[in-house]
Amino acid sequence: MARPRSSSGTIPSMEGSHEQLKDNTIIIVLGASGDLAKKKTFPALFGLFKQNFLPRDVKIVGYARTKMDQPEFHKRATSYIKNPNDDPDITAKIDEFKALSTYVAGDYDKGEAFDELNAHLEEIESKYQSKECNRLFYLALPPSVFIPVGKNIKEHCYVSRGGINRIIVEKPFGKDLASCRELLSSLKKYWTEDETFRIDHYLGKEMVKNILVLRFANVAMNAMWDKNSISNVQITFKEPFGTEGRGGYFDEFGIIRDILQNHLLQVLSVIAMERPVSFAAEDIRDEKVKVLRCIPPIERSDTLLGQYVSANGKPGYLDDDTVPHNSVCPTFAATTLWINNPRWEGVPFILKAGKALNEAKVEVRIQFKDVTQGIFKDIARNELVIRIQPSEAVYLKLNAKTPGLYTRAMPTEMDLTYKRRFTETNIPEAYEALILDALKGDHSNFVRDDELDVAWKIFTPILHWIEGKDGQRPKPVSYPYGSRGPKELEPFVTKYGFRRNNEGYSWPVTNMASL
Ligand code: NDP
Ligand code: BG6
Repeated sequence: MARPRSSSGTIPSMEGSHEQLKDNTIIIVLGASGDLAKKKTFPALFGLFKQNFLPRDVKIVGYARTKMDQPEFHKRATSYIKNPNDDPDITAKIDEFKALSTYVAGDYDKGEAFDELNAHLEEIESKYQSKECNRLFYLALPPSVFIPVGKNIKEHCYVSRGGINRIIVEKPFGKDLASCRELLSSLKKYWTEDETFRIDHYLGKEMVKNILVLRFANVAMNAMWDKNSISNVQITFKEPFGTEGRGGYFDEFGIIRDILQNHLLQVLSVIAMERPVSFAAEDIRDEKVKVLRCIPPIERSDTLLGQYVSANGKPGYLDDDTVPHNSVCPTFAATTLWINNPRWEGVPFILKAGKALNEAKVEVRIQFKDVTQGIFKDIARNELVIRIQPSEAVYLKLNAKTPGLYTRAMPTEMDLTYKRRFTETNIPEAYEALILDALKGDHSNFVRDDELDVAWKIFTPILHWIEGKDGQRPKPVSYPYGSRGPKELEPFVTKYGFRRNNEGYSWPVTNMASL
């Protein structure tokens, strides 16, 4: 892994090293036949393995109901690992990775099946030198089986002769406050909070992790970080494809549960939290919970819902056979959250997410207030943009004198584009960073139980309204596939004081295109 060029300013609890990992560890991926395992979990495990960031002597065991032999499992597990130029070194590493990975087929609700899994794990462990063995269980499974699987692992596969047991759980953690509490309390019967790692993979993204450093390691940044300087904050998620192939899942959840309630709210909490006492996991999570508790439930009037319709030869949401023909499930949502504390009172935090839009982009846009009137006319507002993906960047839009013999201001930017500035650095995938954290036992970038509880409190009333629990279901406005979203979006953000800057200015496209 590329190392920082200088060790100055390192954050002790965030530093990685092989020594922090436990030897004699098995990583067990449950749901190993699935989409997440194939596309994210195994490639992330391989990425760590390739860079020597997995424990010495690590073994990986896949588990799912699908019957398959080892070659078939290896084929699936490595099908998303990239080796575009057939680099022989990578091919050799993939072969090594296959050699340390095995597969066991079994049910999720039968204790005997987990006894068989346990026998396989013990056989592997019998070859380890030390008696102390460690097991990391990764649940790449639908939430419907979280509870039986959590129970069966605890009752049949938990090592109690020394060593650690940890469980990684994927979202969604429930569908509303009540179901989340039920899920949490059921899993807590078997797994302690310390053993549990709830993934929100946005917390593993480089630019989300960077927010704490940008904020708290820069006096200049910190000084402008409040209602006195900031007019509004927008956190935007855009995907250029629809729900094709996932319509069944999506229609049950909708865009708010899929993206806003977890990924975007997590980003908001890091943007808005107070300075933690330290970078220790509990200090960070205490501050995130504190700020989330200052947010009242979202108002209906602060919500805009959309659903994409067919355009330019692309199918609309309702054209998907797995979606009910009259579904009013939102595929786009914009909601405004208010934080009732002295730092943020009156500053709208606008969360926006949509499928089937014009581009792939996730960013935070902090728009500052107008400069005092008098000497400038119609001058652009400053904006700080944190581009989470693609092409990680932080840029500050500011006004400068137009070069030459004029005394005129023009909008320009200070630009930190990662691929240009950090040419030798490999930015890890979110899942690589998170699996490494779980191996080290660092909870900082995982979601704590009380964080979830408060997140659901903010979103549950609006979700119940959308589902028609209080009467008629609201009908989302439509937007064409591939557009910027519903036409109602522009007046929506304007209502909260967002001002589109001077016509003609945009962050130079070359910054994106050349990278
Ligand atoms: P899949 O639908 O692919 O399920 C994973 C595996 O679980 C399947 O291969 C199947 O294995 C088993 N399974 C599927 N449905 C059921 C069922 N009804 N009852 C019992 N077992 C079942 O899911 P994903 O891999 O897409 O997602 C897994 C988890 O990760 C989910 O919680 C999802 O929300 C979350 N997630 C997924 C992302 C993605 O990109 N896919 C992104 C972020 C989170 P078998 O039949 O062989 O046992
Ligand atoms: C998942 C959602 O949690 O995040 C998907 O379920 C979405 O609908 C995905 O596509 C986006 O993740 P990323 O890392 O591609 O931004």
